[in-house]
Amino acid sequence: MWKQKGLVICLVGILFVAGLWRNQRAWEADALVSPEGKKIALTFDDGPHSKYTEELLDGLKERGVKVSFFVLGSRVVSNRELVQRMAEEGHLIGSHTYSHVELTQYELTEAVCEIEQACEVLKEVTGQEIEYVRPPYGSWSEALTDATSLTMVKWTIDTLDWKYKDADRIVSQVLKEAQDGSIILMHDRYASSVDAALRIVDALQKEGYEFVTVDELYVD
Ligand code: NI
Repeated sequence: MWKQKGLVICLVGILFVAGLWRNQRAWEADALVSPEGKKIALTFDDGPHSKYTEELLDGLKERGVKVSFFVLGSRVVSNRELVQRMAEEGHLIGSHTYSHVELTQYELTEAVCEIEQACEVLKEVTGQEIEYVRPPYGSWSEALTDATSLTMVKWTIDTLDWKYKDADRIVSQVLKEAQDGSIILMHDRYASSVDAALRIVDALQKEGYEFVTVDELYVD
């Protein structure tokens, strides 16, 4: 009898402590939801990549974070599932042209065609109308603005991740330069970029940043 009572008291104690621990965890999760209203956007160009884009999507899903992918049209067909997954998981998908051309070096109609060809293949795979374009090399003109209905998206922090392939360097640069409204340029084509991006998410969420897709930063 006493033994049983002791067991029950012990069980109640364990449940009580477990409850406290869960509440603490829930409170910590709440604290990650941007108390100061600071917003920041991670953007990835030149993908998708069959290995690294998938790893990135897994890490973002774990963290409940949405980013913006500026996809090359020429890479969509061989990575259909990844592009569909981006759309299903709420990431923004934009055009990075069909074959990564410097748009201002082309005749206007050809340049527009490069942008729209990517939009068409993306629409075919995702069912979405594409509304945003990031021009390769940031090369853009007034004439292009007039000739396309897409919104052009540049960046405010260039990580040069493709050049250094050094996660520590990328993380420390971004943590130093980040501010409300920053748009971070990265490429989902390197292990170091995926590693850095997820570390950036973890660090900046702790600083009260909310990661958003670029449409949430653009009031048009
Ligand atoms: Ni590019």
